Amino acid sequence: MTDQITLRRPDDWHVHLRDGAMLQAVAGYTARQFARAIVMPNLTPPITTAEAANAYRARILAALPAGAGFEPLMTLYLTDDADADAVEAGYQAGAWIAAKLYPARATTNSHFGVTDILKVARVLERMAKIGMPLLIHGEVTDPEIDIFDREAVFIETVLIPLRARLPNLKIVFEHVTTAEAVAYVSEAAPGIGATITPHHLVINRNALFAGGLRPHAYCLPVAKRERHRQALRRAATGGSDRFFLGTDTAPHPVAAKEADCGCAGIFCAPAALEVYAGVFDELGALDRLEAFASLNGPRFYGLPVNEATVTLVREATPVEALAAAELGGVRPFLGGETLAWRFVG
Ligand code: DOR
Ligand code: ZN
Repeated sequence: MTDQITLRRPDDWHVHLRDGAMLQAVAGYTARQFARAIVMPNLTPPITTAEAANAYRARILAALPAGAGFEPLMTLYLTDDADADAVEAGYQAGAWIAAKLYPARATTNSHFGVTDILKVARVLERMAKIGMPLLIHGEVTDPEIDIFDREAVFIETVLIPLRARLPNLKIVFEHVTTAEAVAYVSEAAPGIGATITPHHLVINRNALFAGGLRPHAYCLPVAKRERHRQALRRAATGGSDRFFLGTDTAPHPVAAKEADCGCAGIFCAPAALEVYAGVFDELGALDRLEAFASLNGPRFYGLPVNEATVTLVREATPVEALAAAELGGVRPFLGGETLAWRFVG
């Protein structure tokens, strides 16, 4: 039995680092395990200009522990009125490396998002031309569509037509949660990748109702049936280079989760790599963890892989029950539970 594993330092291809006091509280968790992270732009207001992206990057760097050696990779929040020249200028200047498409009202702070993908057609054409990736929150927002079907319907009604129009546009289908998304990404023409979160590999939708309503298991896209979780586990561990690590760590204060209308988001950064390692171990695929965590993402984005390494050991490890007490507390994913793997550093 493998009791220790060393891999190239991984990257997190999807994080919410927030801003202000929350940024101060959470940045260190991501920087502890990951060399780089794609930082989501859904602040209030969202990151829609190069100036805002540069200023946000500076705030992130200032929030890191000394000597963290962590590189935030910034993203642009697409709105209906995004301008193709400005998007390209920001990309060429290094203000961002990708743009995030939130269908308007799909999730937290998405009300400034894109109301109809045709409204950003010229921007997407330009992105395809210059090789700038589009990161997609892949859910339709029509309230008539059942929330558990919104990802699968998005594939049929938005993603497939988009790729038919712009086959050269590089796309990351973020935080996939369904067997349909796994099948689509596995079989589609090249140029598409997908991130998978630790929590969607561990919980199914029953976790939302285990003995009562569980707000800390609520995120978007919401966890689906067990057969979908199984498909995600096969995708992550199956050796396809189209799937890579993206935690979607999304901290909210306890009071904002445990509320009449609780926020979507799971704070999985405190033990992200340990949870992934546990899943790969359970499936006898520890030898594929490095590709998923450290190789497939850089290859997709055209970035060098990290030279440093990290080590995990098989050792019972408690997850802290509550982080950021100074903010009233943020509940980590699996907080208070014990994991089989420990991140050594
Ligand atoms: O659960 C989620 N939380 N899903 C998202 O897409 C956004 C995120 C957040 O920002 O809280
Ligand atoms: Zn997210």
